[in-house]
Amino acid sequence: MKQLIYTSSASTGLGAKALAKIMASAQSNNEMSGVTGLLMYHDRTFIQLLEGEASAVDATFSRIRADRRHLRVLKLREQEGQDRLFPDWAMALARPDPTLEASGRGLKSFDKVIATLSSLRDGETDPRVLQLLHAFVEGAETAIE
Ligand SMILES: Cc1cc2nc3c(=O)[nH]c(=O)nc-3n(C[C@H](O)[C@H](O)[C@H](O)COP(=O)(O)O)c2cc1C
Repeated sequence: MKQLIYTSSASTGLGAKALAKIMASAQSNNEMSGVTGLLMYHDRTFIQLLEGEASAVDATFSRIRADRRHLRVLKLREQEGQDRLFPDWAMALARPDPTLEASGRGLKSFDKVIATLSSLRDGETDPRVLQLLHAFVEGAETAIE
């Protein structure tokens, strides 16, 4: 099992509709290739965790990297041998802005994501991966307050 986490900048500000489109293809492709993970978006910045068989994660990431809806795709960590953090999420989208309706397939509230991340903290998960996701959530929340 491989985990890969990257950050990127949206090429233009993306609305709910554009994000839903990304999510629709992410979920159907990921279901087929056995990839799971989490995508967070705030203030034109993405962070995404992909997990699955190495070949599936690599193929997914090469498609994502070539996508012109975002720029400056920067890999933060890549490692093998971890259990899945989000085995039930073919891809989940979380946005910290509380004014955005948590609706649509795969759309999670930030609170739900934080709760899930906290429950994982006690497990066998590499804390560095969780720290990256946490840092994004905390940074986004500070920006909104
Ligand atoms: C931020 C971001 C995250 C994405 N995440 C995924 C993903 O997890 N899985 C995936 O297959 N495509 C993802 N995509 C879309 C791919 O870049 C690409 O458009 C898609 O895989 C093409 O497949 P399709 O022709 O079936 O839509 C993402 C795109 C962006 C901009």
